[in-house]
Amino acid sequence: MSSILYDNIKELPPMPQIAKMVLDLLEDPDFSFAELVRIISKDANITVAILKLANSAFYSPKNKIVNLTQAMSFLGVKAIKNLVISVSTKSLFLKGRVGIVDQKLWEHSVGTAVMSRLLMLRVDKKLVEEAFLLGLIHDIGVSVMKMNLENYELILQDAFNENIDLCALENERLGINHAQVGAELMKFWKMPEIYSDVVLNHHSPENSASKSLANVLFLSNNLLKCFGIGIGSCNEEFSKYIEAIGLDEAVFEDIKGMFKEVYDAEKEIFNI
Ligand SMILES: [Fe+2]
Ligand SMILES: [Fe+2]
Repeated sequence: MSSILYDNIKELPPMPQIAKMVLDLLEDPDFSFAELVRIISKDANITVAILKLANSAFYSPKNKIVNLTQAMSFLGVKAIKNLVISVSTKSLFLKGRVGIVDQKLWEHSVGTAVMSRLLMLRVDKKLVEEAFLLGLIHDIGVSVMKMNLENYELILQDAFNENIDLCALENERLGINHAQVGAELMKFWKMPEIYSDVVLNHHSPENSASKSLANVLFLSNNLLKCFGIGIGSCNEEFSKYIEAIGLDEAVFEDIKGMFKEVYDAEKEIFNI
């Protein structure tokens, strides 16, 4: 960590325990699926979220899925892994005294995740789950800064009330920003390198090694802010980024149109 980061951020929160257990298990290529089900079944929130997700409009199974093992085999390991991280991430966003701004930030994160997934479905299907997860955690640095810095809430409030760019305000008042802090957290959690890269560059996708993930995230993050679901001002110059991921403007407009319905269903899963 750079020294200015180190001076300000004394404590990075550990990865929530259930997420760690699942990730550790999945590290082993010969992991047992039954063991994965056993770990997850102990967490009621995640169990409910998995059942809801399996039955959601996005996956639309032919018949209602009623048990956990069935839901997990239907969704597949990658989707489960991301859901576990997602649900446990929620506890970090909504930790401590939860005010309007925290709630707004969590809604923004879920919305950005949903929009990223919709966009990535048209850009590169292989990256859909990563796009969703990155959408959900891209602003996690905000929570870490809130935990570490007494005066940080004022910065959040000011960005929210005055509708100004949060990163710029953080840089001005603290000399560090939530993208840098979030990237450090990804490293600390030993997430794949691409996660810290994309989180670090979510306001500057041109600097990322993963053009599609970073540009998709940039677009969805800004769209959500323009929709009023987020903190701070939005960048409405979308064309350059749409072009960077090789998307047609008309398709982009279609996806925007689909957002609301999918978002409402997803909010159900995350109990916003
Ligand atoms: Fe951000
Ligand atoms: Fe954001």
